[in-house]
Amino acid sequence: MTDYNKSANQKVKLCHSRSQQCAVSTYPHFTLTTNLPTMNSVLLLGLLALISGTAAEFTCTRGDSVFPKKLCYDEVCANKVVGHIEEEFHAAFKYLYMAAMFGQYSIARPGITKFLLESASEERSHAMQMLDYLDTRGISGKSSYNFLQASVWTPTNGVDNENGIEAALEEAIKMEIGVTSLIKEVIAACSDDYHAADVFTNPILDEQHEGLRKLQGALKTLKGMKVNPITREGKMVAEYFFDLKLQSGEIL
Ligand SMILES: [Fe+2]
Repeated sequence: MTDYNKSANQKVKLCHSRSQQCAVSTYPHFTLTTNLPTMNSVLLLGLLALISGTAAEFTCTRGDSVFPKKLCYDEVCANKVVGHIEEEFHAAFKYLYMAAMFGQYSIARPGITKFLLESASEERSHAMQMLDYLDTRGISGKSSYNFLQASVWTPTNGVDNENGIEAALEEAIKMEIGVTSLIKEVIAACSDDYHAADVFTNPILDEQHEGLRKLQGALKTLKGMKVNPITREGKMVAEYFFDLKLQSGEIL
């Protein structure tokens, strides 16, 4: 019924094809055509307007000169970073807890203990890098961070068995995958802040992937030392020698 080829402000008579009822109307100020590429352009412009209307804004304008103050940051990004710092501390404490389990005299697995302590330090350093990032913008972190007791690793059979180290490596891989996924969410939220995206991409995301690569390789090595057929005692010996290799730095 509508003729999209009319020019602006032109009076047009529009009639319904079945009822033949008609009305005279002034054509809209814009000209639409049924040309497909043009219609796509209109839809694209609408979509871009929708996206720009909802996207977070990076604020770095010259305003008043009252200092110190928060500056050159993106509110959505900053909130995401503040929230993620707790995840990094959580990972650090979890590694520390796991290290304490393997390090006690009744378990005595110095290799995996060393690795877990190093991992705890690395996670803590990630949290500190993020706090440093916030500090460059004058943004404060949270006043307190919670560590949930429920998220402490408690393997059903403890760690003093033929699969203690293997289970710990699998738990570490699961946790690192989760943290990596969350870091990608931070980077996505910080896409308007190039410096933030840079900080979280390298070194932090780079270290996540490198760490996951090493963990998976170590797990494969350990499983390779437990090739079937093997007894429970054989697996315990495999874990013992694997731990010695961890201690000497041959693995991880
Ligand atoms: Fe981390």
